[in-house]
Amino acid sequence: MRMLPKPPVPRLPAARAAATKNNTERPIMAEPYIDRYQDNGAILDETWKARPNIYESRLRLLHRALTTKDPGKILSIGIGSGIFETLLRERYGIEVAEAVEPSASLGAEARKKGLHVTQSTAQDYDYAGAPYDTIVYNGSSFGFIPDDEIEATFAHNREVLADGGRLVLTDVPEESALGIILQLAQKYDIKREDIDDLLAGTTFFNLNTHAYKPNWHPISWYATLLERIGYRDLKFFQTVLANPPYQKDAVEDPIEGYTKGNYVAIVASK
Ligand SMILES: C[S@@+](CC[C@H](N)C(=O)[O-])C[C@H]1O[C@@H](n2cnc3c(N)ncnc32)[C@H](O)[C@@H]1O
Repeated sequence: MRMLPKPPVPRLPAARAAATKNNTERPIMAEPYIDRYQDNGAILDETWKARPNIYESRLRLLHRALTTKDPGKILSIGIGSGIFETLLRERYGIEVAEAVEPSASLGAEARKKGLHVTQSTAQDYDYAGAPYDTIVYNGSSFGFIPDDEIEATFAHNREVLADGGRLVLTDVPEESALGIILQLAQKYDIKREDIDDLLAGTTFFNLNTHAYKPNWHPISWYATLLERIGYRDLKFFQTVLANPPYQKDAVEDPIEGYTKGNYVAIVASK
């Protein structure tokens, strides 16, 4: 893993970078936030209902990652419509103490499920409830944070974690079969008819309406970044090993590692 190229050094202006390092200035956010889910708050729940097996596999992955130790006080960043936080409570009795969501329409859906959600980005949030035992970005929500703001954001997250606290990230890796299709479809003008059959069995069968993350990196890129910030004892879990057309067909239990899964969890300790 350490043989792979280093993530780029973030391009924060010098004064802002210094202030961020000293934890004296907030927020980190430099680029304006774009709500890719505006007026489309129902899309995540609709996708969950249409692809229940994949969501079940993702829930088991998230649960496995959260329970490498007692998750304690949890902050969920980019909670979306709160599907996973609701299921964690119902299925496993795991309560999320605090939640952040920048999209007004998604936050409204999460509140309908009884969750308390503050409208903010990760970069702008004041982390009022710190220290946290676990900070979780489920469903690639960190992939929506611009590349030149991600290091400062994860570094700030480390500061507001309790000693021994953990950052938990779950993602569709750039290098997975699903990630490769989505990324190429996003970057190049590929005809939908050329990829529709491949995506029909995935949670991205509804690509016309389903927003997906703008920033893609392999898991090793995130691992290198997290270790450079000072996170340690990285653990990896993966699920949905099936190729894209078959992903909706069966529930899968997570296994350790990150080289095969279309959904991967990284657990990084302070
Ligand atoms: C693919 S959705 C995942 C939602 C939810 N966690 C789930 O797994 O169902 C990505 C989420 O990241 C949120 N998001 C986008 N930019 C963000 C930012 N800068 N900080 C925090 N969350 C952000 C989106 O609004 C959206 O809710």
